[in-house]
Amino acid sequence: MAESPIASSKVKAMARQHVNHGDIVKFAQDKVNLPKDKADEYRAQARRLRERLEGYLRDHPDFTLKKMLLAGSLAKGTALRTLNDIDVACYISGADAPGDVPKLLDYLAERLRKAFPNFSPDQVKPNTYSVTVSFKGTGLDVDVVPILYNGDPDWYGKLVSQDDGSLLATCIPRHLAFIRKRKQAHETDFAQIARLIKFWASKMKREQDGFRFKSFMIELLLAHLADAGLDFSDYPEALQHFFTYLARSNIRELIAFNDYYARASIGAFTEPVKLIDPVNAKNNVSKLYTDAQAAAIVDAALDAGDAIDAALAAPTKQETVRYWQKVFGSAFQV
Ligand SMILES: Nc1ncnc2c1ncn2[C@@H]1O[C@H](COP(=O)(O)OP(=O)(O)OP(=O)(O)O)[C@@H](O)[C@H]1O
Ligand SMILES: [Mg+2]
Repeated sequence: MAESPIASSKVKAMARQHVNHGDIVKFAQDKVNLPKDKADEYRAQARRLRERLEGYLRDHPDFTLKKMLLAGSLAKGTALRTLNDIDVACYISGADAPGDVPKLLDYLAERLRKAFPNFSPDQVKPNTYSVTVSFKGTGLDVDVVPILYNGDPDWYGKLVSQDDGSLLATCIPRHLAFIRKRKQAHETDFAQIARLIKFWASKMKREQDGFRFKSFMIELLLAHLADAGLDFSDYPEALQHFFTYLARSNIRELIAFNDYYARASIGAFTEPVKLIDPVNAKNNVSKLYTDAQAAAIVDAALDAGDAIDAALAAPTKQETVRYWQKVFGSAFQV
């Protein structure tokens, strides 16, 4: 039997007495978001590194490390409380920069030690796809990710993928501008929904072996919904919309953007998931995702959507909270 719209909005209004938009906001502030003082501290840490490199470059203009740039969630304002390193991209130019990733990382580490002589050599360590700079005392480690750079004025370059070490032609400053534009269109709400969904994805990763859902993919999906006019201002509804979209599209819809290329000009992609880099029409950000991994995301989204439906219809506060905990885990309390 179909519910009348009036009855269903009444049910919603009742459910909102138990857990409403404001409760989700409070949960996000208390449990999900990286607190602002921490974010400021970590950004300052990255800025000091960048400025020290700039100082070194003033005295050594031929040095091949050209720029360090805060990248990743701290730069985008989508970091979670559980953040465990600071992503910094480092632009490397010159004919003698190795194209082979392990050698490139040794080369980057050696140059960083030269530019930062106050660090002891063991504070600058190459690992699989990046170089970790660790700080004594407080602060987080800085993960320096190499970008092979040929002097492009817009700072396009070949980023070493943190997923498989391949080289991705892309543009970090434009990624940041792309996200900033959506954040401006949905003041606080775009970034907040992104962090809430990343929090859900991290719970899924803990609970389900092999589950993956890259943060940048979540942000691109949300940007797609934002551009299509989704209202982000009611969080239960915006979350429900995101999960419903994943289920309805089966995460098989090709998603691309008009910001830096004509969306209509993009070529064919054969991978199951096709979320195209907004700054490079040839780069599928989700190319490593298999059918099984895509299906796991869709299943999890269906479960989350059902739980939110149930939460919105539950008669008691206790039941409502229990359904929201299916989405966000036991950290969810009101
Ligand atoms: N496949 C890719 N193609 C192009 N750029 C990418 C790709 N993967 C990551 N990046 C770049 O690296 C940045 C960080 O990646 P990602 O979104 O996965 O992590 P994050 O935003 O730091 O989130 P968190 O670390 O909290 O999970 C992205 O914002 C994007 O600029
Ligand atoms: Mg990161």
